[in-house]
Amino acid sequence: MKIFIDTANLDMIREINSWGILDGVTTNPSLIAKEGTDTPSRVREIAKIVDGPISAEAMALDAESMIAEGRELAEIHPNINVKLPMCIESLKATKVLAAEGIDVNMTLIFSAHQALLAAKAGASYVSPFVGRLDDIGLRGSELIDEIMHIFSNYGIGTEVIAASIRSPSHVLEAAAAGCDIATIPYNILKQMVAHPKTEEGIRKFIEDYCKDKE
Ligand code: G3P
Repeated sequence: MKIFIDTANLDMIREINSWGILDGVTTNPSLIAKEGTDTPSRVREIAKIVDGPISAEAMALDAESMIAEGRELAEIHPNINVKLPMCIESLKATKVLAAEGIDVNMTLIFSAHQALLAAKAGASYVSPFVGRLDDIGLRGSELIDEIMHIFSNYGIGTEVIAASIRSPSHVLEAAAAGCDIATIPYNILKQMVAHPKTEEGIRKFIEDYCKDKE
């Protein structure tokens, strides 16, 4: 499973990139606003750090404007894909952008119907939101299972990005479902590294080694 980081923070991106595990980056308007910047300039900076797909979300709400904004974002760097929110207008825009060779990441996916339609329109990626489904008492990870199953039935090449990841368990559930990509916040990536028994083991090895030298 490919690992993306879900952030617009450059220090976090640099840090995780240095671990040698990073395949790409997703941003969204909330994450960009948190950094006090704008999408075009931030994704330009990110492309200098990471060699992999970078999602830049368009703010337009009608197909024509989404297409225009999508073209502008895609112009910034060959690794940029255009994130569009799932709706009728974005399906229309996806068809046009995909025909021009521009990758679309259809975001705010909350059902398998939406994922299927996005794939049919030509989206390169769909982003089901696991945590936000859990927030309303549903099982977000079950949606990943369902989409993976449907896409495999028909050999659909659209990649599934497990998004709105809130815990290391969400990452494992995505991997168990055969999900193509998980986009993971910085704090969850740090949690994935840590294990109390590993830390205890390191301390003990050092202690024993130093004792032996006394
Ligand atoms: O990039 C979209 C996404 O991952 C949002 O996560 O935690 O705001 O639901 P969250």
